[in-house]
Amino acid sequence: MSEVFKPPIKWVGGKSSLIQQIQPLFPRDIATFYEPFLGGFSVAQHVQADRFVLSDANPLLIDLCRAISMDWEGLADETDQIFSTNSKDQYLKIRALGDWTPAQFLYLNRASWRGLWRLNKSGQMNTPYGEGKIHLVDRVNMRKMNQWLNHNDVELVHKLWAIPKEAGPTDFFYFDPPYDGTWGGYTPNGFSSVQANFFRDCLDLADRGIPWVMSNSDTPEMRGVFRDFEIKELSTNRSINSKKRVEIVIINRGRQ
Ligand SMILES: C[S@@+](CC[C@H](N)C(=O)[O-])C[C@H]1O[C@@H](n2cnc3c(N)ncnc32)[C@H](O)[C@@H]1O
Repeated sequence: MSEVFKPPIKWVGGKSSLIQQIQPLFPRDIATFYEPFLGGFSVAQHVQADRFVLSDANPLLIDLCRAISMDWEGLADETDQIFSTNSKDQYLKIRALGDWTPAQFLYLNRASWRGLWRLNKSGQMNTPYGEGKIHLVDRVNMRKMNQWLNHNDVELVHKLWAIPKEAGPTDFFYFDPPYDGTWGGYTPNGFSSVQANFFRDCLDLADRGIPWVMSNSDTPEMRGVFRDFEIKELSTNRSINSKKRVEIVIINRGRQ
């Protein structure tokens, strides 16, 4: 197994601090591990599976992982160059481009206020400049991620959630969608309009004996739709508007 690496970017809803509570809920033997809401890449590296299908609606995340997989050193050089000339003026110019290379995406993530990636409804990134100091790329860390991507059978796909036709009961899904009751503004259209369909797909997979675990917030909607499933509360320090937030995982064990 490759060495553990830090996720390459800061991502809202990232699971680094919860992975120790979530991963033990996964099955031991997984043929294909599907992670269709990949985000900042904090989960897959902790999973043992024959094959990984990692996808997200945000093409920048997928392009970044592909760049790390193919030429991490070229990416690190290009990123360091942009990092070393960091200024508010540069940030605003790059933010206005609207279409970013992996190095520019890493830079915006690092130089923005709290590393928040936020798009308005026209798809423009609108997070203010962070004013903080940014460090050059952690090359050891990036190389570890490159090794993980190349030592495993990994498919990186840019796509919206849809049930993969080929999935079966020896596979496993980890779902970390935008949380119920949030705008889910990772993508310009948000997630609330497709959430009901996604939940139906989860119930459908469960009917077909295909196991999954889903992270979400503890809301009446979640408790209602998934009332027949095992639900576990996680201890978390996250808070929203200074109210402590309770996160849950819903566990569908399939035909184990
Ligand atoms: C909570 S984040 C995932 C965080 C991730 N587990 C981590 O640890 O960084 C949710 C992700 O879902 C993606 N997303 C939003 N709507 C989607 C959709 N319809 N299909 C696929 N991915 C979507 C977003 O781009 C975002 O990266």
